[in-house]
Amino acid sequence: MAALCVLVRAVASVYPAYMRQGSPQHLGGAGKWNTEGVLLDESQAKGEIDLHSVFGNTRPVELEIGSGKGTFILERAASRPEVNLLGLEYAGAYCRYAADRVRRAGLVNVRLLIAEAGRFVTERLPDASLTAVHIYFPDPWPKRRHHRRRLIQRPFVRQLRRVLAPGGQLLIVTDHLGYFMHIRRVLDGAEGFARIVLPRMTDATGQIVGTNFERKYIAQGRAFYSIARLRYV
Ligand SMILES: C[S@@+](CC[C@H](N)C(=O)[O-])C[C@H]1O[C@@H](n2cnc3c(N)ncnc32)[C@H](O)[C@@H]1O
Repeated sequence: MAALCVLVRAVASVYPAYMRQGSPQHLGGAGKWNTEGVLLDESQAKGEIDLHSVFGNTRPVELEIGSGKGTFILERAASRPEVNLLGLEYAGAYCRYAADRVRRAGLVNVRLLIAEAGRFVTERLPDASLTAVHIYFPDPWPKRRHHRRRLIQRPFVRQLRRVLAPGGQLLIVTDHLGYFMHIRRVLDGAEGFARIVLPRMTDATGQIVGTNFERKYIAQGRAFYSIARLRYV
């Protein structure tokens, strides 16, 4: 019994809170959702991705990292049909669920990928290929010994700058004050970014960006911290 308790505690310390509260597995396996035309099969892909052929046009591309169940990307894509939206999510169950939602909504300007963002951005995205990067409620990894797992780190921010076109925007919202201060420190030390105010993207019900986690956190009365930067030449 004692050994079981130690194991449970060890697992709980490794997985972030959102996984402990409701694992994506409850959404079901791969066969449950129809992801056709939305979810990209990148299992064998290598080298730079050709975004024009992925979307079948040359419109501007915005990236969302950690798109979860897809609430933001759906709203954004519906309100900006002139823009292509690419969503990265490493939890396969969330990504497939989101892809099915996008397909049912009939949105043709969204593609989703099951991928780890650090690797995908670094290895697959061409220079200056994006007009915006959205990162909403990234996992904060609050324990000091887990801070190195945080997504926003100096080398990754250099990659984000590389893939943003001049004038492109990096938009981040978190509910975690410690992570916010870390992100601000990293961005203030990064070259090639100017500070801007987070543009208002949804105005329905007073939300800033309109993600699933945002809705949940509004109901809990939590504070949000936003950071936005513009890539200059
Ligand atoms: C706290 S949730 C927020 C989801 C969504 N943005 C929202 O606000 O509702 C963080 C999401 O980012 C995903 N994620 C975390 N790190 C990631 C990474 N390195 N690459 C891709 N997805 C990641 C998680 O699987 C999870 O779905």
